[in-house]
Amino acid sequence: MAIKNVGVIGCGLMGSGIVQVSAQAGFDVLFVEANDALVKRGLERLRQTLEGLVAKGKLDARSKDETLGRIAGTTRLEDLKAVDLVVEAMTENQALKNETFAKLDRICPPHALLASNTSSCNVTALAAATKRPAQVLGVHFFNPVPLMKLVEIVRTILTDDGSTRAVTEWARAVGKTPVQVKDSTAFIVNRLLVPYLLDAIRVYENGLASLEDIDTAMKLGSGYPMGPFTLLDLVGLDTAMFVADVMFEEFREARYAPPPLLKRMVMAGHLGRKTGRGFYTYESST
Ligand code: 3HC
Repeated sequence: MAIKNVGVIGCGLMGSGIVQVSAQAGFDVLFVEANDALVKRGLERLRQTLEGLVAKGKLDARSKDETLGRIAGTTRLEDLKAVDLVVEAMTENQALKNETFAKLDRICPPHALLASNTSSCNVTALAAATKRPAQVLGVHFFNPVPLMKLVEIVRTILTDDGSTRAVTEWARAVGKTPVQVKDSTAFIVNRLLVPYLLDAIRVYENGLASLEDIDTAMKLGSGYPMGPFTLLDLVGLDTAMFVADVMFEEFREARYAPPPLLKRMVMAGHLGRKTGRGFYTYESST
């Protein structure tokens, strides 16, 4: 099956990245946001990003215009009636995602594949919410989407080979390297990454070292591109805590439990770069 038209639900941090890489790769993309102001904000953010790339000489003005010409936004899920693939990138809420997949199943053409960019929701539950479970998968991108090369292609026990192949080819076409993983809590990357990030918070809570020194140690001593606290601020503390909660709920192992400091920072609204304050402070929120 050839994918040409892509629908993306949500044009926030992850959604806008998915819209960008898809449109730059030549796909027509229609994104859905909750209201007109968010549609406008999504389009504006994409325009600014592409203009930034032109200013840096990484993209020519014509490609920018062509890319923007392939992107449209709407507030109506019903407008996804002609897409070949939907990538859902809403907030991590299983009940809301289940409901959305049931609606998509009624709206989208019978051949369309329904995918979720979830980091921790249950993809099998999404499949079960539809009458086309063989065509439901996870496509897990990494933040920041345009720069991170990996996509986890998540297959449930209900997914068929043709759908997996088509989504894998699409992931390659948008410039990513796909890896295959079974539907399982946190997949590959978060299963390994999240306990490390939680351990970093515990090391800091225990007073072993400063934030800056822990970050420097892991960058220079382990070759990570970012230290754990810079990365937590990038990913979002709420997202990190959500994934940790889901992992703890599934496995009941102490190493997956969110540390008290993380919980309190989330309660305080210190969510990282997006709110201008997390473990570090930032001049402007993104
Ligand atoms: N599109 C295309 N290019 C872009 C861009 C965009 N939207 N935004 C920035 N760029 C370009 C910049 O123009 C820049 O180009 P230049 O070097 O020519 O000026 C280039 O990308 C790199 O920009 P930076 O200087 O910011 O890049 P760094 O070398 O500092 O690398 C990084 C940034 C790739 C984010 C690197 O620090 C990194 O790999 N960090 C780790 C990130 C990570 O681990 N992410 C995964 C998080 S876990 C996750 O997402 C899962 C979830 O489920 C929780």
